[in-house]
Amino acid sequence: LAGLKGVGEAVSKPLEYYFNNLVSTMVISKMCLKYGVGKFVFSSSATVYGDQPSPLKEDMELKKTTNPYGEIKAMSERILTDTSIANPNFSVSLLRYFNPVGAHESGLIGEDPNGIPNNLMPFVTKVAKGQLEKLSVFGNDYDTIDGTGVRDYIHVVDLAKGHVKAIENLKDGVNIYNLGTGRGTSVLELVNAFMKVNDIDVPYEIVGRRPGDIATCFADVSKAKKELGWKAELGIEEMVRDAWRFEQNNK
Ligand code: WQD
Repeated sequence: LAGLKGVGEAVSKPLEYYFNNLVSTMVISKMCLKYGVGKFVFSSSATVYGDQPSPLKEDMELKKTTNPYGEIKAMSERILTDTSIANPNFSVSLLRYFNPVGAHESGLIGEDPNGIPNNLMPFVTKVAKGQLEKLSVFGNDYDTIDGTGVRDYIHVVDLAKGHVKAIENLKDGVNIYNLGTGRGTSVLELVNAFMKVNDIDVPYEIVGRRPGDIATCFADVSKAKKELGWKAELGIEEMVRDAWRFEQNNK
């Protein structure tokens, strides 16, 4: 859960990312084997699927990812899978996050990335707060409902609950689960929901596509529901409301 996670940063500093994220995963795994820790839950990412048609399903063959961040997640999955196969007492749960957003409803815990945010939601909240001038929407010429990128946004509290279920229901061997909602939302749908729900303006400008972006990405969520008894319960309204509440409280 403590890996570096900036996709853009991974492109500009690949060696730092490969070293930090892969070596840490290997060291922790080695220590698990040494001290008999038999359950490992790993924060993976939907980015490992590469550019292929959604809904994305856990048994799909993985395609080449579009950036070093995705490569690292795919390699980490391989390291943990091979280690579990070689050590039957070492079971892993690979949780493929889709797009985590939002904050705890208390407004006390949330995301506050260093510097200029890479991801959409923290950028939107900083624009709404007046810390950033406007949002650049990376392309509106994709083959999607309104031309902007479609993603499966999942409330971070739903994501956390998915981890608890994964730990409670961890089976022997290698277990892979999508943690998403199964629903796609476009950039403009999310921005408009944010403005409507929070009654605030978010100035934006349509600009060119961001290299490495894919048009559409959302999860098939049937496996986690069946095997973990987990499904996401919070929708876009709660995500944008909770994200804004945290930003407003965050001094
Ligand atoms: C979402 C959509 C952008 C910023 C990445 C990683 C993934 C996970 C989540 C860690 C896209 C558009 C964004 C902006 C925009 N990371 N956008 N203007 O790229 O889907 O996924 O972050 O777990 O592994 O790959 O997320 O939030 O960067 O972008 O228009 O200023 O918003 O084009 O369509 P992404 P994102």
